[in-house]
Amino acid sequence: MTPKAMNGHGWMAVLTALLVLGVAVGLGCGGGGKQQTAGEGSVTKAVAVLNPTEGSKVHGVVTFTQDANGLRVVAAVEGLSPGKHGFHIHEFGDCTSPDGNSAGGHFNPHGMTHAGPTEEKRHAGDLGNIEASPNGATKYDRVDAHLTFGGKDSIIGRSVIVHAQADDLTTQPTGGAGARLVCGVIGVAKP
Ligand code: CU
Ligand code: ZN
Repeated sequence: MTPKAMNGHGWMAVLTALLVLGVAVGLGCGGGGKQQTAGEGSVTKAVAVLNPTEGSKVHGVVTFTQDANGLRVVAAVEGLSPGKHGFHIHEFGDCTSPDGNSAGGHFNPHGMTHAGPTEEKRHAGDLGNIEASPNGATKYDRVDAHLTFGGKDSIIGRSVIVHAQADDLTTQPTGGAGARLVCGVIGVAKP
């Protein structure tokens, strides 16, 4: 381009082209980033209301919140007998069957074996046990690095089950935790 060609209109055209390019690049980066990070509009909190299965009087609430090292899981469950009870995320968000079996097996998107919550190789849904004290109160509050709200491994739309017996953390594929006392579907919550 010769200096003669750079009249008023020429400069305008160049500036407009640069502006359009800049906007396009900016949009492209922003859009791509949002799909991979916890950006605006992505899920940061989820909740499961635990309803009793047939013959059970147990009920409770579990919340999942985004944490730097995974998801923080806080559970409050009432009506459990004292001691440990298997506590898992199951594959299907389907609590329609009276015994809770419609929720399927443990959520296991990576084809692992059943194990305890602190093991590296485990079902993603293996949250271990929730323990009820002699007065029936429970506390479960830990950050789990295996859980995510994003992508195909998302726990959204899966379910939470609490069992009648303890999860022994070794028996395949269930931990031998017995009957299902409650079932609750994990849904998106207001942050
Ligand atoms: Cu279970
Ligand atoms: Zn398992």
